[in-house]
Amino acid sequence: MSFPDGFLWGAAAAAYQIEGAVDEDGRGTSVWDTFSHTPGKVLHGDTGDIACDHYHRLEEDLDLMSELGLRAYRFSIAWPRIQPEGRGEPNQKGLDFYKRLVEGLRQRSIVPAVTLYHWDLPQALEDRGGWTRRETAERFAEYAGLVYEALSDTVPVWITLNEPWVSAWLGYGAGVHAPGHTDTGKALSATHHLLLGHGLALGRLRSAGGNPENRVGITLNLSPVRPGKESKGDAEAARKVDGNANRLYLDPLFRGEYPQDMFDYYPRLADPALVREGDLQAISRPLDFLGVNYYMRHTVREDTGSGRASGMLFPGLRAKTVQPHGAETTAMGWAIEPDGLTELLLRLHREYTGLPIYITENGAAFHDYANPEGTVTDEERIAFLDAHFRAAEEAVREGVDLRGYFVWSLLDNFEWAEGYSRRFGLVYVDYATQRRIPKESAHWYREVIRRNGPPQSAGEES
Ligand code: FCB
Repeated sequence: MSFPDGFLWGAAAAAYQIEGAVDEDGRGTSVWDTFSHTPGKVLHGDTGDIACDHYHRLEEDLDLMSELGLRAYRFSIAWPRIQPEGRGEPNQKGLDFYKRLVEGLRQRSIVPAVTLYHWDLPQALEDRGGWTRRETAERFAEYAGLVYEALSDTVPVWITLNEPWVSAWLGYGAGVHAPGHTDTGKALSATHHLLLGHGLALGRLRSAGGNPENRVGITLNLSPVRPGKESKGDAEAARKVDGNANRLYLDPLFRGEYPQDMFDYYPRLADPALVREGDLQAISRPLDFLGVNYYMRHTVREDTGSGRASGMLFPGLRAKTVQPHGAETTAMGWAIEPDGLTELLLRLHREYTGLPIYITENGAAFHDYANPEGTVTDEERIAFLDAHFRAAEEAVREGVDLRGYFVWSLLDNFEWAEGYSRRFGLVYVDYATQRRIPKESAHWYREVIRRNGPPQSAGEES
């Protein structure tokens, strides 16, 4: 196995998906509270009101992480716990919760990795236009500075944003995530302001001092893109989808420019009122690492129809995603393609950056259940993770500086628009009782961590 010494094997989670306690200790309302309470937006009307009740079960969950042998834990800070209205003085009780969490991790020798923004924008800011407004980028940088001041001595790994593509295109374009807008122009403004928020926050953190060993990066969800058939039309469609899903974020961050070929479809990106002088310099400030969330590859065909079918995900590009032939899928309906991870990591290395990379999320939902003996046998998840770890290892062998791998997710949790119907956890959660049951995959992962790589064959225990 070629995983380097000190490799950070971890698990990831996000505030709104696990914490619950939405009205406690001064927390304000976020766009996800509003969205999940809007009828028809989330499957079965599920909300994050209680979720995994992690806010009240912190000690138990920390012990669980210890039992799993985790070396690192990636979690997000709920902005509305720190600034209930999205501006002004920090709410001490909100900060205290995360201080307790970080302290608990350190006592157990688990490295804390903080995500500053995992989609729970304070509703007060959305009321003023949310990420379509430049002001939100400025507010985000202030908020980031407050959290950094409180935790920079104890948290070594900092991630500004989680998946700006999802925030912008699912939240403002397709409307399937909060705040639920369906407007391509808004999705583009949101894209720029999210990236700007990242750049401004990064600047703040750099000038705040703090521990010089601290590392700051951003997490992108990235997908290699392939044409469905060997045709000019499909190749063209694949180029455009790659432009939207990957290059729209990678190019400004690593090259200080938006991809020129996308200006034809998204002229807003060339509007100097949106992209002001100096913005791209701020966005392309040097990072310490790149966080990569990998779930799927996109197989793309030219959309010769009305453009509406796929238009939802990649609007205006006359391209649609299709299932690759014969692919197995997860409970999300996502094709399982571990070699896509190798492909992605090598491309990043060759075309964009030699910086250290963390896989900040990878994992899968399956229809897990607790059997009468009280165990959860999730062989599919073990096979999925095993194949992806090996795919990552392949990239390491080819020179990618991979430093860590965070499995999504620690616990089954609130899977956004899918509510509690999709279980991604290494640990099963019985929502009626809040009982946690480590799945078979959790025991297996513990062994992976101990050996610094997957055992010889999937599921093999020693
Ligand atoms: C990612 C999100 C994460 C989780 C996984 C399944 O897009 O960052 O919160 O929902 O997908």
